[in-house]
Amino acid sequence: IEYLLTEKDLMGEHILVTAGPTREPFDPVRFITNYSSGKMGYAIATVARRRGATVTLVSGPTHLSVPSGVEFLSVSTAREMRDAVLANLPEATVVIKAAAVADYRPAVREPQKIKKKDDDLTVKLERNPDIIQEIGKKKQNRILVGFAMESEHLVENAIAKMVGKNMDFIVANDLTKQGAGFQGDTNIISILDRDGEFQELPLMDKIEAAAIILDKVRKIRNSQLN
Ligand code: CTP
Ligand code: CA
Repeated sequence: IEYLLTEKDLMGEHILVTAGPTREPFDPVRFITNYSSGKMGYAIATVARRRGATVTLVSGPTHLSVPSGVEFLSVSTAREMRDAVLANLPEATVVIKAAAVADYRPAVREPQKIKKKDDDLTVKLERNPDIIQEIGKKKQNRILVGFAMESEHLVENAIAKMVGKNMDFIVANDLTKQGAGFQGDTNIISILDRDGEFQELPLMDKIEAAAIILDKVRKIRNSQLN
């Protein structure tokens, strides 16, 4: 495992990273979201910058501070994230989609705060755009990296996502494992690629996991150049 963070081995790459949750409002004071902390994406942005890449970080709302030397774009909804990503796609040589994008948004955003009544409230949800799928359709020479959070059938589901969205590799999180996933400073990841390589990694710090993910990016770039 290589994590010499000072080696500038990503110089010349422009890495677009998405991180954090999205927020999908249904009135001026309420929204639907998920437990994403943004830590994995911010760790990737931090390490990529240290290793010499130009980094653009598109982030949903988090409590994290912006990594130094990184171009930062703050977004809230999935649609805002999509617009920011597509606007910055032309320069990107690598796209890493660590964000936990809400699959659905409330169909209606009420202009006024919804008042409570005695009966139940139903909120209709509609599909958000799949951002990485759109990027996959105009991938060109870019290296495209996605994430998968699974609570069952990890390998099968992750492979289906990687192939269906035209990713070069996918980082899978097994939510049944202690120390994996959204909130903590650690993660347990597996990396699956298009050649059928399957790397199951132990519990580690998110910074360390970021370094391994970027090693894989570097390896794919090397294999393209050779
Ligand atoms: N993703 C995205 N836009 C969405 C939903 C997901 O770009 N609207 C990206 C995520 O950033 C991640 C990958 O797709 O890199 C997989 O996300 P995940 O939620 O695991 O997969 P889905 O395809 O949304 O499938 P499901 O939630 O049904 O498991
Ligand atoms: Ca999803």
